[in-house]
Amino acid sequence: MTRSLGAEGLPLRTSIAWVEGRIRFIDQRLLPGQLNIIETDDWQQVADAIDTLALRGAPLIGVAAALAVAATAMKTGADGVRDGVISAIDGLAATRPTAANLFRALERMQRVVDRTVDDSDLEQMLVDEALGVLDDDRRLCSAIGRHGNKLIPDTARILTVCNTGFLATAGEGTALAAVYRARDAGKKVQVFVCETRPLLQGARLTAWELTEAGIPVTLMVDSAAAGLIAEGGVDLCLIGADRIAANGDVVNKVGSYQLALACKHHDLPFYVAAPGTTVDTACSDGSVIPVEERSAEEVAYWAGQRVAPTGVSVWNPAFDHVPADLVTGIITEEGVIHPPYIFES
Ligand code: MRU
Repeated sequence: MTRSLGAEGLPLRTSIAWVEGRIRFIDQRLLPGQLNIIETDDWQQVADAIDTLALRGAPLIGVAAALAVAATAMKTGADGVRDGVISAIDGLAATRPTAANLFRALERMQRVVDRTVDDSDLEQMLVDEALGVLDDDRRLCSAIGRHGNKLIPDTARILTVCNTGFLATAGEGTALAAVYRARDAGKKVQVFVCETRPLLQGARLTAWELTEAGIPVTLMVDSAAAGLIAEGGVDLCLIGADRIAANGDVVNKVGSYQLALACKHHDLPFYVAAPGTTVDTACSDGSVIPVEERSAEEVAYWAGQRVAPTGVSVWNPAFDHVPADLVTGIITEEGVIHPPYIFES
């Protein structure tokens, strides 16, 4: 069963929670106009929410998927639990192909299924594991914020893209966690955010999150970023990641590559913040990381109105490859890593 709870269903600055066998999450499609919390115990609803970006951000979709598997086990009871849970894992894994965190979380749930012999133990084991995924993400975000803060000068104009804050994780965020820590440490931070066409995560989500937190934020169209960098308008670029290959190549929201190129050209630091759950050592380099292509409608329509001629061909990759040699450093829960990047499993 799925229901809408309005704005009251979650504490402030919290994007997801587990409440008595049910998952509560913000419907991010409606922000910033409406803050509505959805509650469900149905993995298909969670899969649909991930697919339509009601739930989004690499760490958050991993946490949501793990909780959805646990909810399935609770709902099913011992009879048929194994088959039900395996269907949920398969269905959730088929939602979005790029973020490593989704697969990492589902692998954790699958390992519990594989090593639990007695079906009557599965429910509790899966709930414990899913809550572990959620707690781990909170802990990783907090460590990333701490390490990332050290890279931010006392006065800083920070360029970012998409949304990497509390809306994208179960904790305080990744790249934005560093910004929050810097502000809390008394630094004078200002954020420039690309609107992030076509789904406007920068305009709708980051601009909202930072405004609510009282951090000055300036919104601009994606294509203004290189000009801003060229005229010395920012001090550093700080973004998140959906998957990082063993050699440090990064895949993140489309628009990230042009930011990295412009930073390199103008000798500006370009940092990526992501938890270890985003690193996929099975990918030797970025070329083997799959990039999700989304529907033509996301680009051909603006606010519900068609803006491109009917029948025009559209290319709509959701993510960009950023080669490791453009990345000044990667901030993980363990600290800041500099090139050459060699991640090992
Ligand atoms: O398509 P989205 O909104 O899920 O894309 C999200 C991003 O690209 C984020 O930068 C990334 O997931 C890191 S979030 C901490």
